[in-house]
Amino acid sequence: MSTTNLIKASLEAGFELLRPPHEGAEDGSSARRTPPLLVPIRSLGANHRGRIAQHLLSLEPQDRYLRFGYAAQDQQIHRYVDSLDFERDEIFGIYNRKLELIAMAHLAFAKDEQLRSCAEFGVSVLPSARGKGYGARLFDRAAMHAANEGVSMMFIHALSENTAMLKIARNAGAKVERDGSETEAYLQLPASTLDSKVTEIIEEQVAQADYRLKAQAKQFWSFLAQVQAVRRGAIDAQSRMPH
Ligand SMILES: CC(C)(COP(=O)(O)OP(=O)(O)OC[C@H]1O[C@@H](n2cnc3c(N)ncnc32)[C@H](O)[C@@H]1OP(=O)(O)O)[C@@H](O)C(=O)NCCC(=O)NCCS
Repeated sequence: MSTTNLIKASLEAGFELLRPPHEGAEDGSSARRTPPLLVPIRSLGANHRGRIAQHLLSLEPQDRYLRFGYAAQDQQIHRYVDSLDFERDEIFGIYNRKLELIAMAHLAFAKDEQLRSCAEFGVSVLPSARGKGYGARLFDRAAMHAANEGVSMMFIHALSENTAMLKIARNAGAKVERDGSETEAYLQLPASTLDSKVTEIIEEQVAQADYRLKAQAKQFWSFLAQVQAVRRGAIDAQSRMPH
């Protein structure tokens, strides 16, 4: 996406936040809108650990199985989240207007310095937000980041039944090798360019600004709800007074 389009899309997203939130639409169930041109994907730091845990814990057993390759119990998810290394790895997230983490990806770099040219990708999208391209966008963002970090091979471990994940990998040009119930996908990454580096910086700035706007909009709407509740209370009290 060009810089101009990036700016246009982020302004569009800003205006969108000024619309009052209404139930259901955020969860994709009712009043589904056309997906925005830009999906603000931000890099998450350790202060997002709680929301990451909440996101993963809300996944049903089948999704946990697809994400981790085994039916992760709550305790195992807590251990995984506690062990996330935000310095070495990169965690990406997509927040909705209610500041719920609706999608996240983990790009894990090898611990061994000699294997720094490899990284592993894992992703999850909440069921209500699926089919809107978030999984594919996270994949693209992670691939761009990995390339910018000098990684030449991104690796995805998926269960062979995971059609959606394998489609994302295949669409991106990954080599897919099935081994029974498990499948490995390898994506050869191009060398980074000035353009890929600048694009990543701009995308991150846009996503950070989007997050701040969402946080402000959330505060604004809850403030407005409080004011309205006080006003309704005052009107009710007045109508109960003897005339
Ligand atoms: C896999 C997952 C991340 C996909 O997220 P998503 O946001 O719904 O995916 P997208 O909307 O970007 O769709 C990506 C592609 O898969 C296809 N797809 C999505 N869901 C599909 C499904 N259930 N069956 C077949 N194809 C599907 C889409 O059509 C799209 O392909 P296209 O661009 O050629 O049309 C999501 O289903 C998920 O979180 N699953 C549980 C955890 C998991 O499996 N993680 C991956 C293992 S690391």
